Amino acid sequence: MTSLSPMKSPRTRMIDPFDRHIHYLRLSVTDRCNLRCTYCMAEEMEFLPREEILSLEEIERLARCFVDLGIDKIRLTGGEPLVRKGIVQLCEAIAGMAGLRELTMTTNGLLLDQYAEPLRNAGINRLNISIDSLDKSRFKQLTRVGNLAQALQGIEAAVDVGFDRIKLNAVVLKGVNDDEVLKLADFAVSRNLDISFIEEMPLGHIDSHARNQTQVSSNSIRQQLSDQFQLTVSTESTGGPSRYFVLPNSQSRIGFISPMSDNFCTSCNRVRMTVEGQLLLCLGNEHSLDLRGMLRNNKISDNDLKAAILGAIGRKPERHYFDSNDTQIVRFMSHTGG
Ligand code: GTP
Ligand code: 5AD
Ligand code: SF4
Repeated sequence: MTSLSPMKSPRTRMIDPFDRHIHYLRLSVTDRCNLRCTYCMAEEMEFLPREEILSLEEIERLARCFVDLGIDKIRLTGGEPLVRKGIVQLCEAIAGMAGLRELTMTTNGLLLDQYAEPLRNAGINRLNISIDSLDKSRFKQLTRVGNLAQALQGIEAAVDVGFDRIKLNAVVLKGVNDDEVLKLADFAVSRNLDISFIEEMPLGHIDSHARNQTQVSSNSIRQQLSDQFQLTVSTESTGGPSRYFVLPNSQSRIGFISPMSDNFCTSCNRVRMTVEGQLLLCLGNEHSLDLRGMLRNNKISDNDLKAAILGAIGRKPERHYFDSNDTQIVRFMSHTGG
């Protein structure tokens, strides 16, 4: 795990009104996905038409502008990033940008059997892989269409390739998979992987369950785990929102991402780009800047783009306000990549 300070970055020019140094870009390369996780999407989804999504060249140009401004970590997200054609070439292009310290990806792992090695060779340093259940029929139920064996094969392929680190992500839902917390932690620890347990956020109107009925707090998950694991708080950070605990005689870290029970916005260091070129200043707010319009205007230079980005950073909201009784943000998570 990197020991970088999530708060400070001497190189960045992007400092928001709350003195937060923005040096982490979450870059969504597609809104499409080969799964339909119930907490993330509605069953029937409409995806963006091709002309509305950025080309790989446009994504690369924007990524370069952000790196020039001081972004030193890029996480490629989706939807599912591996369903985007040309993803490996995009990784290569971004990984080679001077000033970038880390290129990472969040994936559902289904296509890793095919992509793990090319991604590693293209310069991906770390992978976060979602896995919410180790039970075949429950995995199918949660993802609507997923095949657990394929997801597990993807994780094993990534382990074999040898990334700097692999972190598993599990969104925990009451009455759905909260009885699998120990099993998931064991699975990660037995493979020397990290794992983050995530509180469900009310993003997008879903039809599978009422979000106020499925909330599980990080504290209650930690309590479950402490029956079996001796958890000691770690000061290490990946520069993301996960708060990590270490275990005796293990390389694995167990993390908790607690957007509902423990707001982490004071240490926010990130912004997001959607695949339609919208710069989102916060996951839990609508503040944004349309960069696609600028990108497609011949008169706009990279310096103009950078000036617009710097201007937008000045409008970054202080924090998110999530309420599981009330979905105020109608954007689905698959649209922003988390
Ligand atoms: P690293 O720290 O680099 O390993 O990444 P990460 O854990 O931040 O990223 P990942 O893509 O694995 O996301 C895990 C969860 O954290 C997802 O549910 C994201 O939506 C959530 N998350 C990441 N950044 C933010 C944020 O700024 N605000 C909120 N509310 N949630 C976030
Ligand atoms: N709340 C919390 N996490 C979510 N994810 C997707 N939708 C939600 C949600 N509503 C997670 C995915 C993946 C990461 C990018 O975000 O499971 O691990
Ligand atoms: Fe796809 Fe990830 Fe959303 Fe599941 S959580 S539907 S894998 S984008």
